Amino acid sequence: MLAIDLKGKTAFVAGVADDQGFGFAIAKALAEAGAEIAVGTWPPACNLFRMALERGKFDASLVLANGGKMAFRIYPMDAVYDAPADVPGEIREDKRYRENPNYTVEEVAAQLKADLGGRRLDILVHSLANAPEVKKPLLETSRAGYLAAVSASAYSLVSLSRHFAPLMNPGGAILTLSFLAGDRVVPGYGGGMNAAKAALESDMRVLAYELGRAYQLRLNAISAGPLASRAARAIGFIDRMLDYTERNQPLAKKLEANEVASAAAFLCSPLASAVTATILYVDNGYHAMGVGVDEKGMQGGDSTSLHTRPGFVPRAP
Ligand SMILES: NC(=O)c1ccc[n+]([C@@H]2O[C@H](COP(=O)([O-])OP(=O)(O)OC[C@H]3O[C@@H](n4cnc5c(N)ncnc54)[C@H](O)[C@@H]3O)[C@@H](O)[C@H]2O)c1
Repeated sequence: MLAIDLKGKTAFVAGVADDQGFGFAIAKALAEAGAEIAVGTWPPACNLFRMALERGKFDASLVLANGGKMAFRIYPMDAVYDAPADVPGEIREDKRYRENPNYTVEEVAAQLKADLGGRRLDILVHSLANAPEVKKPLLETSRAGYLAAVSASAYSLVSLSRHFAPLMNPGGAILTLSFLAGDRVVPGYGGGMNAAKAALESDMRVLAYELGRAYQLRLNAISAGPLASRAARAIGFIDRMLDYTERNQPLAKKLEANEVASAAAFLCSPLASAVTATILYVDNGYHAMGVGVDEKGMQGGDSTSLHTRPGFVPRAP
């Protein structure tokens, strides 16, 4: 039997603060495959996440196929700050940061190294993004907002790679999460997030080259279809996006986070030992579409009947 076996491997998943997003689903898939998990959580979300865990809010989601419960260590991490000297005074004084110290990328890497003892990291997942002006069209996005989006959502991968790669075993894997909006126009995905995802994908290729040569590490991206995570809800149009893609993609079904997580587990496993510098679309095929098939007048040719197969809900004329 060909199985994804990550027993004895260690994984750090950056960008987990609840059980709704891709980060949690990926952490769980890696745990199902036997990996030991640590997660990086944004300091403003840390206390709420810990409290919800203690109160059992995520108990059902934590159950593994073997009946066990996924366990993980939480590292407060703000991927916008590389080292303590980068942290502005108002952030340093913020109660949520004071209660969750050592959150810069450099400090998290040092802490993880100490906690691993003599062992090394095998898998690093970058599943985080942020843009303070995400609801604004690009035309109205300020320079500060644009740069903040690129810093949190793209440069964070550069920083994590630089600080974590030296802790990793040769043959290890890094994975990042992207979105089609880095490559195509997705109206409503604003605040510079389009540029952040474009930068992320380009950096992914360059870093894959550099990490491969320097550390024998692989780096790939999954370009995921829409999911109603907390981050996506903050953008504001996720329900319309889910509805639209479901009606217009080759596989007319909802995307589940665990479908992205299974692909992630493969990419992070030795089964993908020759796969690096690539973008894997896990989006029910939406990226391949050139026109929206639910638009009136777009259902011509011999394929008309395809549009009315189960799962496809045509828009009322
Ligand atoms: N949800 C979607 O529709 C979708 C589609 C394609 C790609 N993605 C990408 O998937 C990744 C995960 O997002 P998600 O949708 O699962 O939402 P999510 O809310 O589960 O994850 C985003 C995480 O990023 C964290 N974060 C924000 N700023 C941070 C910072 N400065 N430092 C550290 N952590 C920070 C948040 O606290 C949150 O835990 C993101 O890169 C996102 O762009 C999402």
